[in-house]
Amino acid sequence: MTKETIQDIHVEKAASTRINEVDFNNLTFGSVFTDHMFECDFKDGEWKNPTVKPYQPLTLDPSARVFHYGQAVFEGMKAYRDDNDETWLFRPDENFNRINKSCARLAMPEFPESYFFDGLKTLLDLDKDWIKKGFGNSLYIRPFVIATQSGVMASPANAYKFIIICSPAQSYYGGEVRVKIADHYSRAASGGFGYAKAAGNYAGQFYPTNLAKEEGFQQVIWTDANTHEYLEEAGTMNIFFRINDKLVTCPISDCILDGVTRKSVIDMAKDMGIEVEVRPIKVKEVIEAAENDSLKEIFGSGTAAVITPILGFGYKGDKWELPKLDSPYASQIKNKIMEIQYNKAEDKFGWRY
Ligand code: COI
Repeated sequence: MTKETIQDIHVEKAASTRINEVDFNNLTFGSVFTDHMFECDFKDGEWKNPTVKPYQPLTLDPSARVFHYGQAVFEGMKAYRDDNDETWLFRPDENFNRINKSCARLAMPEFPESYFFDGLKTLLDLDKDWIKKGFGNSLYIRPFVIATQSGVMASPANAYKFIIICSPAQSYYGGEVRVKIADHYSRAASGGFGYAKAAGNYAGQFYPTNLAKEEGFQQVIWTDANTHEYLEEAGTMNIFFRINDKLVTCPISDCILDGVTRKSVIDMAKDMGIEVEVRPIKVKEVIEAAENDSLKEIFGSGTAAVITPILGFGYKGDKWELPKLDSPYASQIKNKIMEIQYNKAEDKFGWRY
């Protein structure tokens, strides 16, 4: 893949590295950041000032629109290091296209490919020692865009920052995951912006998720806002159900994030000879399948979570546990995808970058 290049990225290197202070065997997801960050500004109708500089706080006017109207979108990506010390990204074009779709929906300016890819490459080159070898180790990359114009008028800003920060990562969910199927709260509504990776989509989940946590669940599976009869997505992940030997997931819509891992799972499962159905799924169907033992697995997919098996679920006060399988689809598919991510297998899909 070749990309058009930004002419001048201003690079200011950190005087020293913090890498020796980090315990890479005990990482809490998203809590430690690398030495540098990429930053550029949208001003006077164009993106400018591409800079890689030491990781540092931002100074923003307290009236900046991001604080008041939530004009903020982000992406989640990972960099992997293979046994030959080469660094790989996984389907980064998908993230680039999606952040621009998210920007468009929040009336924010889209940005050129060069800012995304050259910024990322320059940053990863400087911070490559933070990408550790080994299956499961990665560098989580968080590109985001925020509205920086001052003034509390409720209208789209005319100034923005696009920033990339990076955090060494292991797994996202440390322990067992059980989910509650939502019967009252909703994550997104038709015509809204559930498909965008907008900050507000996540903030709105925290309260219902806290309530679910009090009942012993780690995440909520969201249902459609109109009827709560159809399953949509699980917290930070897309969701898959294995009914007998078939894998079923719901189609993307304006309520559901078009997950990069989701589409990779679908393609990989089909390639492995697994029958995949992409169609609306009713809560009732999943409960019936759990009752008659045809529900074999539920798992979530996402960049941070990769593929996370769900051990049980609850709905309106009732709870179901899933069977323990010797070789679940979740781990078979996860391994196959990770082999591509870590350059341990042929990449017939062309996903590695
Ligand atoms: C990701 O998987 O990249 C996500 O966006 C999840 C994040 C909210 C931790």
